[in-house]
Amino acid sequence: MSLDLGFLFGNKKLPLVGVDISSSGVKLVELSEAGRNEFRLERLASEPLPRGAVVDGNIENIEQVSEAVRRVWKKSGTRAKHVALGMPPASVITKKIVLPGGLNEDELEVQVESEASQYIPFALDEVSLDFDVIGPAPSAPEDVEVMLAATRKEKVEDRVAVAEAAGLKPIVMDIESYAARAVVDRLAERPAKGGQGQIVALFQIGAQMTHVSMLLDGQAVYEREQPFGGNQLTQEIVRAYGLSFEDAESKKKTGDLPDGYERELLHPFLENAALEVTRAIQFFFTSTPYTRVDHIYLAGGCAVLPGLVELVNERAQVPTSVFSPFEGMQLASGVREKQLRAEAPAFLVACGLAMRRFDQ
Ligand SMILES: Nc1ncnc2c1ncn2[C@@H]1O[C@H](COP(=O)(O)OP(=O)(O)OP(=O)(O)O)[C@@H](O)[C@H]1O
Ligand SMILES: [Mg+2]
Repeated sequence: MSLDLGFLFGNKKLPLVGVDISSSGVKLVELSEAGRNEFRLERLASEPLPRGAVVDGNIENIEQVSEAVRRVWKKSGTRAKHVALGMPPASVITKKIVLPGGLNEDELEVQVESEASQYIPFALDEVSLDFDVIGPAPSAPEDVEVMLAATRKEKVEDRVAVAEAAGLKPIVMDIESYAARAVVDRLAERPAKGGQGQIVALFQIGAQMTHVSMLLDGQAVYEREQPFGGNQLTQEIVRAYGLSFEDAESKKKTGDLPDGYERELLHPFLENAALEVTRAIQFFFTSTPYTRVDHIYLAGGCAVLPGLVELVNERAQVPTSVFSPFEGMQLASGVREKQLRAEAPAFLVACGLAMRRFDQ
């Protein structure tokens, strides 16, 4: 076992773009620094993936995915060859452990490896392991708390292979949910976003999956994935109007569908989505000590479906809004605001990955 490409917590200040690879497509974001903790959105682009190329976060077809990465990179106009990639949270095991303080990096690594073997259900030589010292342990200040992250080597290697085949160089490997959280954190520091002691529920409603995180002061106190997403609505459209999947996808976005679509297909889907949200919140209450959610954010491609925010707000009885990762950022002249409004919530993970460029 080594840290070959296991630098899940890498931090480099090179020009770098965030590339999010997920089931509906590949998304790219490039940010630049426009002051202290202020960013400018330089560019964003996305490319759809053929169905089946990425399933449940696993890359099933390296060639198709690397082709899409190559296209999105070209289309974006960026020149940065260094990329930050994300790993799906389900493929990464994370664990906080406590180790004696005062160890040097090598000693830490040895300790981490021996601790890790207790938590990881695979042979250690099949694993990419990384760790990050969080700080003094709350229980014993002479000890340190260390966050351990482990993933199957082949999962990391698939992503690296995709980027390299597209002519890019992956230098940061993050966990998708961490990337998303970094964006929420940045905005939570703004006074209008609540702040201390608030429980924020973040729902990323994608194509296949809905990722739920409950955040308390930037810490995830609960995380879960539910098999629910926009593909279900697309499939309904395919079935009802005899369209191809690709046509159904694009007409879903423009709303260019026959009368009756809203009542017969869209509204039932929105009700299901709202039910997923309220059920997830109930689960959260029954499986944790928490009894309250102060705000719901909707992100992922489905967040912009007309009427969803209002319905979730009504069903959950919790203030709800669409989460826009680029809020408060300056926009480069090439970024169209209209496009941004429709697409920004789907770029949450890509934005978080792009922010890794500025890690201290
Ligand atoms: N403007 C839009 N209007 C309606 N639906 C949209 C819009 N944009 C994207 N979607 C839907 O959002 C879904 C894709 O969302 P997203 O890009 O967050 O998913 P993903 O991360 O690729 O999927 P997953 O996380 O499930 O692997 C698709 O079902 C797509 O049809
Ligand atoms: Mg997603």
